[in-house]
Amino acid sequence: MIKLTPAMKQYYDAKKQHSDALIFFRMGDFYESFGEDAKIIAKELEITLTTRGKDIEGEKMPLAGIPYHALDNYLPRLIKKGYKVAICEQLEDPKKAKGIIKRGVVRVVTPGTAIDTSMFTDPSNNYLMSISGGDGDYGVSFLDVSTGEFLTTQFADKSPYDRIASEAARMRPSECIISRTMFSDERLVERLKELNVLVQGFKDEAFDVDSSRKLLERHFNVSTLEGMGCAGLPYATSSAGAALDYALTTQMRELGHVSELSTYSDSEFMMLDSITLRNLEIVKNVRGEGNDTSILKVLDDTNTPMGGRLLQKWLLKPLINVDSIDHRLDALECLANDTMLRFDVRSHLSFVKDIERLIGRVVYGNSNARDLIALKRSLGSVPQIVESMGDDPGCEMLINIRDGLLGFEQLENIVKLIDDAIVDEPPVSVREGGMIRSGYNEKLDELKGMSTGGKTWIASFQQKERDRTGIKSLKVGYNRVFGYYIEITKSNIAQIPDDYIRKQTMRNAERFYTPELKEWEDVILSADEKITALENELFTEITSRIASHASDLQRIAVLIGQLDCTASLAEVAVNNNFVRPNITSDCKILIREGRHPVVEKTVRGGFVPNDTEMDCVDEQFLLITGPNMAGKSTYMRQVSLIVIMAQAGSFVPASHASIGIVDRVFTRVGAFDDLASGQSTFMVEMVELANILNNATPKSLVLLDEIGRGTSTYDGYSIAKAVVEYIHNKGRVGVRSLFATHYHQLTNISSSLKRVKNYHIAVKEDGDDLVFLRKIVPGATDKSYGIHVARLAGVPHKVTQRAKEVLQDIEDESVISKESDSKRGRKKKSAQYTQLMLFDPEGSSAPVAEPDPVVEELKELDVNSMTPIEALNKLSELQKKAGKGGK
Ligand SMILES: Nc1ncnc2c1ncn2[C@@H]1O[C@H](COP(=O)(O)OP(=O)(O)O)[C@@H](O)[C@H]1O
Ligand SMILES: [Mg+2]
Repeated sequence: MIKLTPAMKQYYDAKKQHSDALIFFRMGDFYESFGEDAKIIAKELEITLTTRGKDIEGEKMPLAGIPYHALDNYLPRLIKKGYKVAICEQLEDPKKAKGIIKRGVVRVVTPGTAIDTSMFTDPSNNYLMSISGGDGDYGVSFLDVSTGEFLTTQFADKSPYDRIASEAARMRPSECIISRTMFSDERLVERLKELNVLVQGFKDEAFDVDSSRKLLERHFNVSTLEGMGCAGLPYATSSAGAALDYALTTQMRELGHVSELSTYSDSEFMMLDSITLRNLEIVKNVRGEGNDTSILKVLDDTNTPMGGRLLQKWLLKPLINVDSIDHRLDALECLANDTMLRFDVRSHLSFVKDIERLIGRVVYGNSNARDLIALKRSLGSVPQIVESMGDDPGCEMLINIRDGLLGFEQLENIVKLIDDAIVDEPPVSVREGGMIRSGYNEKLDELKGMSTGGKTWIASFQQKERDRTGIKSLKVGYNRVFGYYIEITKSNIAQIPDDYIRKQTMRNAERFYTPELKEWEDVILSADEKITALENELFTEITSRIASHASDLQRIAVLIGQLDCTASLAEVAVNNNFVRPNITSDCKILIREGRHPVVEKTVRGGFVPNDTEMDCVDEQFLLITGPNMAGKSTYMRQVSLIVIMAQAGSFVPASHASIGIVDRVFTRVGAFDDLASGQSTFMVEMVELANILNNATPKSLVLLDEIGRGTSTYDGYSIAKAVVEYIHNKGRVGVRSLFATHYHQLTNISSSLKRVKNYHIAVKEDGDDLVFLRKIVPGATDKSYGIHVARLAGVPHKVTQRAKEVLQDIEDESVISKESDSKRGRKKKSAQYTQLMLFDPEGSSAPVAEPDPVVEELKELDVNSMTPIEALNKLSELQKKAGKGGK
């Protein structure tokens, strides 16, 4: 084996401890990487790969390095690609070190534990996810090291994949840790990877319930986790413990700003699974990157990062409790109605920076003086925000926010501390001084006086020496290695006085010093050195004083977030003509002139509003037909988006809306429409469908768009039909559903399934052309108009003409068409369906009766508009009919 240099020994030690990370090894002004790491880094960062010395096997050692000040540039690029990077620093001052400088890894940067400003491209939360459990019980936790937010939950589920994927889709963690044992569960790892989460195996011990509990208790300095709500939840505890363990292990320091763990329960929120979130484009556009067509984009007019993050949470976790929703809507209404209040509050909010992350960095210990200035300005706006809310802001939430902000007494002191201590425009680096205001610290002022005094003396010294020697070009200069010197060009060398002592020889000049210059040099240099050291010390002291108020400051940040989120929703509601929805605990969804909040912004020629009426009894299942491009998908999405927005606490795009609480929204889009997922096979569609059929509750809202499309017509039709039957009958009541299909033959099903109602989106035929009216109207369509649409799309006339003929032939033979036409001269008997049905329509094995004409007529009667006599006459008439019918 080759003999290694001491530095290389340090490198190999670091690599051994952090074998799964790339090592950034500090050498003077560079971070260097060696061996395989160097090859990866050179490739990923497109930097030069060279070699230096020999590696442990005596081969040439690959080397790639980046300048230390460019770390913020390069590091995020590696982290985004899913690498972990261990930063190995010089742990002592190279000038003072005797022999080899001590080095050690000071932190490991991973996607889910990042805290540096450079690591974030947007204000969204950056969560580390952690999963524990097995055998039906699971715990999931989320920790945002940058803001200190820490959440945990536990649930029971035999097959937890969907549930876990839903949580991950909602919270969008960048990294997830699971035990090494769980890591072998390929299905789990695969599901998380699909959601762009970097999955890491972490030591099994970290997921141990007892040691997790102890770690959490120690960290939060509590004797029980009772107050945090997870004392009786072993997996909520162990997943949280593991997350904290991982964060502490990678960050290698106390994380004081992680000051609270809150336990949440799925049952407080509307369930939105990962596929639904994607289909409805709640936070991200279907095509992945970018978010231009998401609901969030339309609704987000927040002024602060806290508000932005909260809005995202509200949208991804709509509430299901009427009072809690109304609590939000009340505040929103208050702000929507009071334009002055809204304007004032919002203009003050716009000065507030990311308080949560600023505090995070202050506590973590990597803040700089500019962060403190940002904190000062942000906190400085708080009194104005409070003032703008006045004596009576008009609703409970705003009163709570105002009182909460008022209740924090240290606010002024913190603002004053920063104002007294830090100059208005400090440098980025905390190592070069220049941060502390004069007047803050006597000792510092004295040192600064000495330093400037010395520098003034030097300036006058140059003039004095010029006069004394008569050398006009004489210069006094400074460099870091040799200190202060007098420089004389070679041509003047003969004129130097006797007391000049030679220091350094240059090509054209000689450099000298005098004992006097040396004395002043000592004064200046030691003063400067002391100044930076003292400034650093003072800065650390100031930040730790601020850090001691971290939890109060975090609470301010939360209140600001609430206010901002609400004010933003109010602003958007006013600007977009949204109305306050009426939230009820019944089953009705009633929307007048509803619009799709995103499509209405983009559609040319004006958006056509549409009504919706649904409930669990008569209008449970809306079967929507209409040609391609008619607006079916848009309509169905609009309904579910209005429901989600309402329950999130937003106003909605409609002229009136009454929403009976929905506990889950499921959406599935038939394979052809689902362009996003590359693997939109029929199988996937069916798996997703099974999930809905198994999990929908009477309070759910299901949206099925062209289900069964991904297979042949016959299969597709049969499956679509069976699904309609199943949902219609599941548990007899409930499951409000919207079902769009181009199998117009399916519409006959409404005659046998009484809660199914046909609707279609109107089009007008104009010769061979088709005019889209975008209006939803009751009743079924009987034509698919596929050929019309083809014509509209510019398919040559000859082709569409021929298609018409083919269609005719097919329809003449088709089972589907036979089933749907009325050769028997009257409305089809539902009994004929039963052979085709996979599920019995009303549950019993008794044959299903054809609708009775008497009952039908009875149903049609408008009792309210009849006089008693009319009613009596009608009754007797019906009785006769009933007798005649032999019933
Ligand atoms: N209510 C409406 N008002 C105006 N334009 C609409 C409306 N609904 C849909 N559109 C337009 O029609 C296009 C097709 O709608 P889509 O819902 O995809 O149709 P379908 O699902 O029936 O094929 C949309 O992209 C939109 O531009
Ligand atoms: Mg569609």
